[in-house]
Amino acid sequence: MEKLEGVIFDLDGVITDTAEYHYRAWKKLAERLDIKIDRVFNEELKGVSRMDSLDRILEYGDRLADFNATEKNEMADWKNELYKEMIVDIKPSDILPGMEAFLDELKQAGIRTAVASASKNAEVILQSLGIREQFDFVVDAAKIEKSKPDPEIFLKALELLDLPADVCVGVEDAAAGVDSIKDAGIRAIGIGDATVLRRADVVLAGTDELRLETLKSLV
Ligand code: G6P
Ligand code: MG
Repeated sequence: MEKLEGVIFDLDGVITDTAEYHYRAWKKLAERLDIKIDRVFNEELKGVSRMDSLDRILEYGDRLADFNATEKNEMADWKNELYKEMIVDIKPSDILPGMEAFLDELKQAGIRTAVASASKNAEVILQSLGIREQFDFVVDAAKIEKSKPDPEIFLKALELLDLPADVCVGVEDAAAGVDSIKDAGIRAIGIGDATVLRRADVVLAGTDELRLETLKSLV
């Protein structure tokens, strides 16, 4: 009997390369605060919510105590406006390689799909990419209290799919995201660097390497 029944995808860095724009926008904000961030530090921001990302940057620059809640909200809004300008032209050709074909394959195999992204821009991005309808569910990030690596968002996806963890696989590009999947009791496919995505059951270099057989072998 085929066991795989559901696949839960992260968005930024898995479905499209918006992880790069998040990085560039945070880097600009950090520069305004005289904090220098690089791609190595950025691995700690991937998958993490907007306000938690800001806190991590301020902590990294030793400036956490310098700003009150209002100022922090203003900074997060500034970054988000910049980010939204960067993604204004995002289009179907920005879907990462192999992803559309893979989603079609899942649909044909009767496997249900969900998106579990911490991004409050997720719905807009999926609409712009023209693939919102390919997913059965998109978790509403606004209703999630605890940022990845907490498993809350992947547990919510399981609830929407109405499936147990052991018949599902999660796909993530962030270390925090892989932790979130694993702590929800789900098998994880990491997309990226195996030294970063240590807890993933399988790590692939890119989305073009996603194969239904690989996912089936995990459950
Ligand atoms: C995803 C990204 C993070 C981003 C978070 C919140 O998890 O990987 O880099 O900070 O979403 O996104 P938002 O679009 O709501 O600021
Ligand atoms: Mg991601």
